[in-house]
Amino acid sequence: MDLVLVGLPGSGKTSVGRRIAARHGARFIDLDASIEAASGQTIAQLFEAEGEAGFRLRERAAVAALGQPDPAPELRRVIATGGGSVVDPANRWALYRGRRAVWLNGPPEVLAQRLRNSPNPRPLLQGRDPVGAIRELAAGRERFYAPALRLNGLAQVGPTLERLDAYLGEPGQGGTLLLSADTRLGRIRIGESFAAGALRALLEELRTGRAIFISEPGAWEAVGGHLAGQVAAGGMTVERVLLPAGEAAKRLSVIESAAGELARLRVERGEPLIALGGGALGDAAGFLAATWLRGVPLIHVPTTLVAQIDSSIGGKTAVDLDEGKNLVGAFHQPAAILIDVALVTGLPERQRRSALGEAVKMAALGDELLFALLERDGAGIARGDSAVVGHGALAELVERCVWAKVEVVLADEREAGGRPGAAEDPVAAARIEAGRLALNLGHSLGHGFEAAAGYGAALLHGEAVAYGLRAACRIGVELGVTPAARADRIEALLTGLDLAPAGGLSRLGIEKAAVLAALGADKKHAGGRLRWVLPTADFVAIRTDVPAELIERVTDELLEARP
Ligand SMILES: NC(=O)c1ccc[n+]([C@@H]2O[C@H](COP(=O)([O-])OP(=O)(O)OC[C@H]3O[C@@H](n4cnc5c(N)ncnc54)[C@H](O)[C@@H]3O)[C@@H](O)[C@H]2O)c1
Repeated sequence: MDLVLVGLPGSGKTSVGRRIAARHGARFIDLDASIEAASGQTIAQLFEAEGEAGFRLRERAAVAALGQPDPAPELRRVIATGGGSVVDPANRWALYRGRRAVWLNGPPEVLAQRLRNSPNPRPLLQGRDPVGAIRELAAGRERFYAPALRLNGLAQVGPTLERLDAYLGEPGQGGTLLLSADTRLGRIRIGESFAAGALRALLEELRTGRAIFISEPGAWEAVGGHLAGQVAAGGMTVERVLLPAGEAAKRLSVIESAAGELARLRVERGEPLIALGGGALGDAAGFLAATWLRGVPLIHVPTTLVAQIDSSIGGKTAVDLDEGKNLVGAFHQPAAILIDVALVTGLPERQRRSALGEAVKMAALGDELLFALLERDGAGIARGDSAVVGHGALAELVERCVWAKVEVVLADEREAGGRPGAAEDPVAAARIEAGRLALNLGHSLGHGFEAAAGYGAALLHGEAVAYGLRAACRIGVELGVTPAARADRIEALLTGLDLAPAGGLSRLGIEKAAVLAALGADKKHAGGRLRWVLPTADFVAIRTDVPAELIERVTDELLEARP
């Protein structure tokens, strides 16, 4: 067995690690020390010479060099990590899977005091108010440490060692948690093969004896039945209400009959509903949870990539009318969102590929690491290549997209809803507006193509967004908003992912008039003018002055392109 110690600088990873290793006759590995030994330089010198980015590359290599987790049941290696190592999703994937992990946590004042007395200067804390700097680091890193078992109160080493001994004697949890954050958008957990255990624990905490799943036949058959079986094996009663698969779930008549089933099951106010399925199921089940008994807790267990990276975050629930999509709905933040990447590995390839349209949009909003990840591994993720998924690329993709959306939605909530007077502060209001609107990159013409294709299997949402992204790039270049190199990079990425291929729209026989009519009905209007979200070198700009002639020309170009 391997034990990994994580935590802020000064939390005692090295000293506790040495002692727990000695107690068990295990080997002690200090990752920082091994980087220093390999490079012949101190961490401070490496930061000086190569910057933080250079150091992090060496750190990633040191983590990779640990190899596979030790399979023995007894403790054989103790690994003390650098405080920032688990910020990198690839390191967390390597360090948390198949290993025991413990977070040594202490008050910032204690950590600052220890660092003052330490012979090793910590580069990230140099020359700053130490307590403030530690608080800032702690806030930014908590979600990465929190998947590990938290041990608080580090003042005395003896009790810490005893607690570690006890933990090492307990059976493992099964599955891997990679990120854990308690936010106003719900508790967000991301990991692999952890959902059943986490669901059981959550339901126990909510003091409910029943797991009430709202699902649909496709998700249930693929993963839901198995997961429910694992929950039932823990002694929980399982109930299941099945809605129709796909967009057909998002109808008021479906909500009415599902509510009838909840009445027959006598579901009470405190009992959570578990939405297990893709985005359509999540929207419908979320609306059911928002309205049943005027609102009951909701737990999302998203089973498609669209639902994992997008629709389960943000609290929007909705059903469709004949007159349009998502016209009736409510905001209802879930109690928890359990994002288990093992649930999407069997998804049909087209579904995965299409979801990457949204991921490219997220990358284009300025996440350079997501951009690089998609360029390197996107095609493998779309194909379901087990080597690519196996080295953590899918989990990293999901995490980066989820967190980008969390930040936008939280900023919106915090600044518009939460802070009195924010609506009157034009700078704050403009920033919120830009953040929220930014998520619509690629969606103006994207929605136009999707609506004209009939919102069905002919053109999936992410596929339409990919065409919309090409359109936004071309319009942006013509207006001088998007640098040509940026547009080329976004379009090359789409091409590499086999998204929005030339000729794809002409095969569907979509009418230009229908696209432009749908554009006219688009939600993103300000005073009657469509607000176009266009890529810049590292984010987006909002423009309301895109000439109609240019929009038509780009639409023609995409509709008429031949392969
Ligand atoms: N609320 C929001 O913020 C938000 C954001 C984006 C999209 N959406 C909504 O999401 C919906 C699209 O979501 P979607 O693409 O997930 O579609 P979906 O929910 O219709 O699922 C697609 C298909 O995948 C099947 N499926 C589900 N899980 C599976 C699994 N693990 N393995 C194999 N098959 C599985 C389903 O049976 C279904 O046929 C749209 O209705 C859209 O409006 C909502």
